[in-house]
Amino acid sequence: MKTINFEQVITKLDEYKYIIIDKNIYELYSELRPPLTHKVVYTFIATERNKSLKAYEEALEFFISNNISRDDELLVIGGGITSDLGGFVAATLLRGINWSVMPTTLLAQIDASIGGKVGVNSSYGKNLIGNFHLPQAVYLCEKFLTTLDKADYESGLGELIKYAFLSDEVYKLIMDKKVTNDLIKCCAEYKQSIVDHDLREGHARKVLNLGHTLGHAIERAKDIPHGVAVYWGLKLILEMYATKEINNYFNDLSSRLGLSFELGLIDWNTFEKHLLKDKKIVASGKIDLILVEEIGKVQISSKRVTEFIFDIKEKLHEYFSF
Ligand SMILES: NC(=O)c1ccc[n+]([C@@H]2O[C@H](COP(=O)([O-])OP(=O)(O)OC[C@H]3O[C@@H](n4cnc5c(N)ncnc54)[C@H](O)[C@@H]3O)[C@@H](O)[C@H]2O)c1
Repeated sequence: MKTINFEQVITKLDEYKYIIIDKNIYELYSELRPPLTHKVVYTFIATERNKSLKAYEEALEFFISNNISRDDELLVIGGGITSDLGGFVAATLLRGINWSVMPTTLLAQIDASIGGKVGVNSSYGKNLIGNFHLPQAVYLCEKFLTTLDKADYESGLGELIKYAFLSDEVYKLIMDKKVTNDLIKCCAEYKQSIVDHDLREGHARKVLNLGHTLGHAIERAKDIPHGVAVYWGLKLILEMYATKEINNYFNDLSSRLGLSFELGLIDWNTFEKHLLKDKKIVASGKIDLILVEEIGKVQISSKRVTEFIFDIKEKLHEYFSF
Protein backbone atom coordinates (compact mmCIF):
# COMPACT_ATOMS: atom_id res chain seq x y z
CA MET A 1 0.00 0.00 0.00
CA LYS A 2 1.17 3.47 -0.85
CA THR A 3 0.41 6.94 0.44
CA ILE A 4 0.05 9.36 -2.46
CA ASN A 5 -0.96 13.01 -2.86
CA PHE A 6 -3.82 14.25 -4.97
CA GLU A 7 -1.60 15.17 -7.95
CA GLN A 8 -0.36 11.58 -7.96
CA VAL A 9 -3.97 10.37 -7.88
CA ILE A 10 -4.56 12.26 -11.11
CA THR A 11 -1.44 10.91 -12.81
CA LYS A 12 -2.19 7.35 -11.61
CA LEU A 13 -5.42 7.44 -13.59
CA ASP A 14 -3.32 7.36 -16.78
CA GLU A 15 -2.30 3.80 -15.95
CA TYR A 16 -5.85 2.40 -16.02
CA LYS A 17 -8.43 2.18 -18.77
CA TYR A 18 -11.26 0.49 -16.83
CA ILE A 19 -12.52 2.25 -13.73
CA ILE A 20 -15.35 1.98 -11.21
CA ILE A 21 -15.86 5.21 -9.30
CA ASP A 22 -18.25 6.24 -6.54
CA LYS A 23 -20.66 8.72 -8.17
CA ASN A 24 -20.23 11.16 -5.28
CA ILE A 25 -16.46 11.21 -5.81
CA TYR A 26 -16.96 11.72 -9.54
CA GLU A 27 -19.18 14.70 -8.83
CA LEU A 28 -17.19 16.20 -5.94
CA TYR A 29 -13.74 15.99 -7.54
CA SER A 30 -14.03 17.79 -10.89
CA GLU A 31 -10.22 17.52 -11.28
CA LEU A 32 -10.64 13.78 -11.89
CA ARG A 33 -13.02 14.20 -14.79
CA PRO A 34 -10.66 15.37 -17.59
CA PRO A 35 -8.27 12.41 -17.13
CA LEU A 36 -11.29 10.07 -17.09
CA THR A 37 -12.74 11.37 -20.35
CA HIS A 38 -11.25 8.71 -22.61
CA LYS A 39 -11.54 5.84 -20.14
CA VAL A 40 -14.25 3.25 -19.64
CA VAL A 41 -15.82 4.50 -16.43
CA TYR A 42 -18.66 2.92 -14.47
CA THR A 43 -20.07 5.42 -11.98
CA PHE A 44 -21.62 3.64 -9.06
CA ILE A 45 -24.17 4.98 -6.57
CA ALA A 46 -22.69 3.83 -3.27
CA THR A 47 -25.59 2.74 -1.06
CA GLU A 48 -26.02 -0.55 0.81
CA ARG A 49 -29.15 -1.15 -1.26
CA ASN A 50 -27.15 -0.79 -4.45
CA LYS A 51 -24.37 -3.12 -3.23
CA SER A 52 -26.45 -5.76 -4.93
CA LEU A 53 -26.39 -8.54 -7.49
CA LYS A 54 -28.25 -6.20 -9.83
CA ALA A 55 -25.56 -3.49 -9.74
CA TYR A 56 -22.84 -6.15 -9.87
CA GLU A 57 -24.37 -7.68 -13.01
CA GLU A 58 -24.79 -4.26 -14.58
CA ALA A 59 -21.11 -3.43 -13.97
CA LEU A 60 -19.98 -6.81 -15.38
CA GLU A 61 -22.03 -6.35 -18.54
CA PHE A 62 -20.81 -2.76 -18.87
CA PHE A 63 -17.13 -3.79 -18.87
CA ILE A 64 -17.69 -6.85 -21.06
CA SER A 65 -19.54 -4.75 -23.63
CA ASN A 66 -16.57 -2.38 -23.55
CA ASN A 67 -14.14 -5.18 -24.44
CA ILE A 68 -12.28 -5.60 -21.18
CA SER A 69 -9.70 -8.41 -21.42
CA ARG A 70 -8.00 -10.66 -18.87
CA ASP A 71 -4.84 -8.55 -19.09
CA ASP A 72 -6.64 -5.40 -18.05
CA GLU A 73 -6.58 -4.19 -14.48
CA LEU A 74 -9.63 -2.54 -12.93
CA LEU A 75 -9.19 0.57 -10.78
CA VAL A 76 -11.82 1.09 -8.07
CA ILE A 77 -12.24 4.52 -6.46
CA GLY A 78 -14.61 4.94 -3.51
CA GLY A 79 -15.51 3.87 0.01
CA GLY A 80 -16.11 0.36 1.33
CA ILE A 81 -19.35 -0.16 -0.55
CA THR A 82 -17.65 0.63 -3.86
CA SER A 83 -14.51 -1.40 -3.12
CA ASP A 84 -16.59 -4.42 -2.01
CA LEU A 85 -18.59 -4.32 -5.23
CA GLY A 86 -15.69 -3.33 -7.50
CA GLY A 87 -13.39 -5.98 -6.06
CA PHE A 88 -16.09 -8.62 -6.58
CA VAL A 89 -16.52 -7.52 -10.19
CA ALA A 90 -12.74 -7.96 -10.63
CA ALA A 91 -12.80 -11.32 -8.84
CA THR A 92 -15.28 -12.83 -11.27
CA LEU A 93 -14.98 -10.91 -14.53
CA LEU A 94 -13.46 -13.25 -17.13
CA ARG A 95 -12.75 -15.64 -14.21
CA GLY A 96 -10.82 -12.97 -12.35
CA ILE A 97 -8.75 -9.96 -13.39
CA ASN A 98 -6.38 -7.79 -11.36
CA TRP A 99 -7.64 -4.74 -9.55
CA SER A 100 -6.30 -1.83 -7.52
CA VAL A 101 -8.10 0.53 -5.23
CA MET A 102 -8.11 4.16 -4.10
CA PRO A 103 -10.19 4.13 -0.91
CA THR A 104 -11.90 7.46 -0.30
CA THR A 105 -13.41 7.07 3.18
CA LEU A 106 -11.58 6.70 6.48
CA LEU A 107 -13.22 3.32 7.04
CA ALA A 108 -12.11 2.07 3.63
CA GLN A 109 -8.55 3.42 4.07
CA ILE A 110 -7.99 1.68 7.39
CA ASP A 111 -10.05 -1.42 6.76
CA ALA A 112 -12.50 -2.18 3.97
CA SER A 113 -10.15 -1.79 1.01
CA ILE A 114 -7.47 -3.98 2.61
CA GLY A 115 -7.51 -7.75 2.73
CA GLY A 116 -9.44 -8.82 -0.35
CA LYS A 117 -12.87 -9.57 1.14
CA VAL A 118 -15.13 -8.54 -1.72
CA GLY A 119 -18.81 -9.03 -2.37
CA VAL A 120 -22.36 -7.77 -2.39
CA ASN A 121 -25.43 -8.05 -0.18
CA SER A 122 -28.13 -10.67 -0.54
CA SER A 123 -31.79 -9.98 0.17
CA TYR A 124 -31.22 -12.28 3.20
CA GLY A 125 -28.35 -10.28 4.69
CA LYS A 126 -25.21 -8.21 4.24
CA ASN A 127 -22.09 -9.46 2.45
CA LEU A 128 -23.48 -12.96 1.91
CA ILE A 129 -22.27 -13.21 -1.70
CA GLY A 130 -18.59 -12.75 -2.40
CA ASN A 131 -15.07 -13.98 -2.57
CA PHE A 132 -11.50 -13.28 -1.51
CA HIS A 133 -9.55 -11.33 -4.13
CA LEU A 134 -6.62 -9.18 -3.05
CA PRO A 135 -6.00 -5.87 -4.79
CA GLN A 136 -2.63 -5.39 -6.48
CA ALA A 137 -2.23 -1.94 -4.93
CA VAL A 138 -3.99 0.25 -2.37
CA TYR A 139 -3.37 3.99 -2.84
CA LEU A 140 -4.08 6.08 0.24
CA CYS A 141 -4.76 9.76 -0.41
CA GLU A 142 -5.59 11.96 2.56
CA LYS A 143 -7.29 14.65 0.51
CA PHE A 144 -10.36 12.47 -0.08
CA LEU A 145 -11.14 12.56 3.62
CA THR A 146 -11.65 16.34 3.56
CA THR A 147 -15.03 16.01 1.84
CA LEU A 148 -16.44 13.17 3.94
CA ASP A 149 -19.51 14.17 5.89
CA LYS A 150 -19.34 14.01 9.68
CA ALA A 151 -21.32 10.79 10.03
CA ASP A 152 -19.15 8.89 7.53
CA TYR A 153 -15.94 10.21 9.09
CA GLU A 154 -17.09 9.22 12.56
CA SER A 155 -18.07 5.80 11.30
CA GLY A 156 -14.40 5.39 10.29
CA LEU A 157 -13.29 6.49 13.74
CA GLY A 158 -15.58 3.84 15.26
CA GLU A 159 -13.71 1.14 13.34
CA LEU A 160 -10.38 2.80 14.12
CA ILE A 161 -10.74 2.29 17.88
CA LYS A 162 -10.71 -1.47 17.25
CA TYR A 163 -7.12 -1.24 15.97
CA ALA A 164 -5.97 0.50 19.16
CA PHE A 165 -6.71 -2.72 21.06
CA LEU A 166 -5.06 -4.93 18.44
CA SER A 167 -1.86 -2.90 18.02
CA ASP A 168 -0.15 -0.86 20.71
CA GLU A 169 1.49 1.19 17.95
CA VAL A 170 -1.96 2.35 16.84
CA TYR A 171 -2.91 3.03 20.45
CA LYS A 172 0.14 5.27 20.95
CA LEU A 173 -0.43 7.12 17.69
CA ILE A 174 -4.02 7.96 18.65
CA MET A 175 -3.04 9.09 22.13
CA ASP A 176 -0.13 11.18 20.75
CA LYS A 177 -1.54 12.82 17.69
CA LYS A 178 -5.14 11.77 16.94
CA VAL A 179 -5.78 10.94 13.26
CA THR A 180 -2.87 11.40 10.89
CA ASN A 181 -1.67 9.82 7.69
CA ASP A 182 0.78 7.75 9.74
CA LEU A 183 -2.05 6.41 11.85
CA ILE A 184 -4.13 5.45 8.81
CA LYS A 185 -1.16 3.69 7.25
CA CYS A 186 -0.37 1.93 10.54
CA CYS A 187 -3.92 0.48 10.73
CA ALA A 188 -3.87 -0.53 7.07
CA GLU A 189 -0.46 -2.19 7.44
CA TYR A 190 -1.56 -3.99 10.57
CA LYS A 191 -4.56 -5.46 8.74
CA GLN A 192 -2.40 -6.37 5.75
CA SER A 193 0.10 -8.16 7.99
CA ILE A 194 -2.67 -10.33 9.45
CA VAL A 195 -4.21 -11.04 6.06
CA ASP A 196 -0.81 -12.01 4.65
CA HIS A 197 -0.83 -14.94 7.09
CA ASP A 198 -4.47 -15.93 6.84
CA LEU A 199 -6.36 -14.65 3.82
CA ARG A 200 -9.40 -16.89 4.26
CA GLU A 201 -9.98 -16.30 7.96
CA GLY A 202 -8.93 -19.75 9.13
CA HIS A 203 -7.73 -18.47 12.49
CA ALA A 204 -5.37 -15.46 12.75
CA ARG A 205 -7.63 -13.14 10.72
CA LYS A 206 -10.46 -13.65 13.20
CA VAL A 207 -8.86 -11.08 15.52
CA LEU A 208 -9.95 -8.42 13.03
CA ASN A 209 -13.53 -9.26 14.01
CA LEU A 210 -12.98 -7.64 17.40
CA GLY A 211 -16.24 -5.80 18.17
CA HIS A 212 -17.99 -7.30 15.16
CA THR A 213 -19.99 -10.15 16.71
CA LEU A 214 -22.22 -7.84 18.73
CA GLY A 215 -21.54 -5.03 16.22
CA HIS A 216 -23.10 -6.82 13.25
CA ALA A 217 -26.23 -7.71 15.21
CA ILE A 218 -26.53 -4.10 16.49
CA GLU A 219 -25.94 -2.75 12.97
CA ARG A 220 -28.85 -4.78 11.67
CA ALA A 221 -31.14 -4.19 14.64
CA LYS A 222 -30.58 -0.41 14.69
CA ASP A 223 -29.75 0.34 11.03
CA ILE A 224 -26.69 2.43 11.89
CA PRO A 225 -23.38 2.90 9.98
CA HIS A 226 -20.95 -0.01 10.10
CA GLY A 227 -18.20 1.77 12.07
CA VAL A 228 -20.66 3.09 14.65
CA ALA A 229 -21.96 -0.45 15.15
CA VAL A 230 -18.40 -1.76 15.55
CA TYR A 231 -17.79 0.95 18.16
CA TRP A 232 -20.81 -0.26 20.15
CA GLY A 233 -19.97 -3.90 19.58
CA LEU A 234 -16.50 -3.26 20.99
CA LYS A 235 -17.72 -1.16 23.90
CA LEU A 236 -20.23 -3.83 24.94
CA ILE A 237 -17.91 -6.83 24.60
CA LEU A 238 -15.35 -4.95 26.73
CA GLU A 239 -18.03 -4.21 29.33
CA MET A 240 -18.88 -7.90 29.43
CA TYR A 241 -15.47 -9.52 29.58
CA ALA A 242 -12.60 -7.01 29.90
CA THR A 243 -10.99 -5.49 32.98
CA LYS A 244 -11.89 -2.07 34.34
CA GLU A 245 -8.52 -0.80 33.14
CA ILE A 246 -9.24 -1.84 29.55
CA ASN A 247 -12.67 -0.19 29.77
CA ASN A 248 -10.94 2.99 30.94
CA TYR A 249 -8.65 2.82 27.89
CA PHE A 250 -11.74 2.58 25.70
CA ASN A 251 -13.22 5.68 27.34
CA ASP A 252 -9.92 7.58 26.97
CA LEU A 253 -9.68 6.68 23.29
CA SER A 254 -13.30 7.70 22.71
CA SER A 255 -12.82 11.10 24.27
CA ARG A 256 -9.46 11.55 22.51
CA LEU A 257 -11.27 10.99 19.19
CA GLY A 258 -14.31 13.02 20.29
CA LEU A 259 -16.70 10.08 19.96
CA SER A 260 -19.95 9.77 21.88
CA PHE A 261 -22.46 7.95 19.70
CA GLU A 262 -26.08 7.78 20.83
CA LEU A 263 -27.64 4.33 20.53
CA GLY A 264 -31.01 4.14 22.26
CA LEU A 265 -32.54 0.85 23.37
CA ILE A 266 -31.94 -2.18 21.17
CA ASP A 267 -34.93 -4.39 20.53
CA TRP A 268 -33.92 -7.76 21.98
CA ASN A 269 -35.83 -9.98 19.55
CA THR A 270 -34.40 -8.29 16.47
CA PHE A 271 -30.91 -8.27 17.97
CA GLU A 272 -31.04 -11.96 18.92
CA LYS A 273 -32.37 -12.96 15.51
CA HIS A 274 -29.44 -11.21 13.81
CA LEU A 275 -26.88 -12.43 16.33
CA LEU A 276 -27.85 -16.03 15.68
CA LYS A 277 -27.83 -15.49 11.93
CA ASP A 278 -24.29 -14.13 11.97
CA LYS A 279 -22.17 -16.11 9.55
CA LYS A 280 -19.38 -16.33 12.13
CA ILE A 281 -21.37 -18.45 14.52
CA VAL A 282 -20.23 -21.98 13.92
CA ALA A 283 -22.80 -24.69 13.30
CA SER A 284 -21.82 -26.47 16.53
CA GLY A 285 -23.70 -23.90 18.65
CA LYS A 286 -20.44 -22.22 19.65
CA ILE A 287 -19.32 -18.72 18.94
CA ASP A 288 -15.80 -17.33 18.58
CA LEU A 289 -15.37 -14.19 20.66
CA ILE A 290 -12.37 -11.89 20.40
CA LEU A 291 -11.49 -10.80 23.91
CA VAL A 292 -9.03 -8.09 24.90
CA GLU A 293 -6.46 -8.95 27.56
CA GLU A 294 -4.21 -5.92 27.21
CA ILE A 295 -3.61 -3.22 24.64
CA GLY A 296 -2.13 -5.12 21.69
CA LYS A 297 -3.08 -8.53 23.13
CA VAL A 298 -6.33 -10.30 22.27
CA GLN A 299 -7.38 -13.91 22.42
CA ILE A 300 -9.93 -15.91 20.46
CA SER A 301 -12.26 -17.63 22.88
CA SER A 302 -14.91 -20.14 21.90
CA LYS A 303 -18.09 -19.98 23.99
CA ARG A 304 -21.37 -21.82 23.87
CA VAL A 305 -23.99 -19.61 22.28
CA THR A 306 -26.44 -20.27 25.13
CA GLU A 307 -23.86 -19.10 27.67
CA PHE A 308 -23.08 -16.00 25.61
CA ILE A 309 -26.77 -15.07 25.37
CA PHE A 310 -27.11 -15.58 29.13
CA ASP A 311 -24.11 -13.27 29.74
CA ILE A 312 -25.52 -10.57 27.44
CA LYS A 313 -28.87 -10.63 29.24
CA GLU A 314 -27.19 -10.51 32.61
CA LYS A 315 -24.45 -7.94 31.99
CA LEU A 316 -25.92 -5.69 29.32
CA HIS A 317 -29.64 -5.74 30.10
CA GLU A 318 -29.89 -1.93 30.36
CA TYR A 319 -29.07 -1.58 26.63
CA PHE A 320 -32.07 -3.66 25.51
CA SER A 321 -35.84 -3.50 25.43
CA PHE A 322 -37.27 -6.97 26.06
N1 LIG B 1 -14.38 -5.83 2.71
C1 LIG B 1 -14.10 -5.57 3.97
O1 LIG B 1 -13.16 -6.10 4.55
C2 LIG B 1 -14.97 -4.58 4.70
C3 LIG B 1 -14.61 -4.17 5.98
C4 LIG B 1 -15.40 -3.22 6.62
C5 LIG B 1 -16.52 -2.70 5.97
N2 LIG B 1 -16.84 -3.13 4.72
C6 LIG B 1 -18.01 -2.58 4.03
O2 LIG B 1 -17.78 -1.20 3.78
C7 LIG B 1 -19.05 -0.56 3.63
C8 LIG B 1 -19.01 0.78 4.32
O3 LIG B 1 -18.04 1.54 3.66
P1 LIG B 1 -17.61 3.04 4.03
O4 LIG B 1 -18.01 3.36 5.40
O5 LIG B 1 -16.20 3.16 3.58
O6 LIG B 1 -18.40 4.01 3.12
P2 LIG B 1 -19.38 3.89 1.88
O7 LIG B 1 -18.72 3.31 0.72
O8 LIG B 1 -20.61 3.30 2.46
O9 LIG B 1 -19.64 5.44 1.63
C9 LIG B 1 -20.39 6.21 2.53
C10 LIG B 1 -20.86 7.47 1.83
O10 LIG B 1 -19.76 8.36 1.64
C11 LIG B 1 -19.67 8.75 0.28
N3 LIG B 1 -18.25 9.02 0.04
C12 LIG B 1 -17.25 8.13 -0.20
N4 LIG B 1 -16.08 8.76 -0.23
C13 LIG B 1 -16.33 10.07 -0.03
C14 LIG B 1 -15.52 11.24 0.04
N5 LIG B 1 -14.19 11.18 -0.05
N6 LIG B 1 -16.12 12.44 0.21
C15 LIG B 1 -17.48 12.52 0.35
N7 LIG B 1 -18.30 11.47 0.30
C16 LIG B 1 -17.72 10.24 0.12
C17 LIG B 1 -20.27 7.61 -0.50
O11 LIG B 1 -20.73 8.02 -1.76
C18 LIG B 1 -21.43 7.23 0.43
O12 LIG B 1 -22.51 8.10 0.26
C19 LIG B 1 -20.10 -1.51 4.16
O13 LIG B 1 -20.82 -2.03 3.08
C20 LIG B 1 -19.28 -2.63 4.83
O14 LIG B 1 -19.92 -3.88 4.73
C21 LIG B 1 -16.08 -4.05 4.09
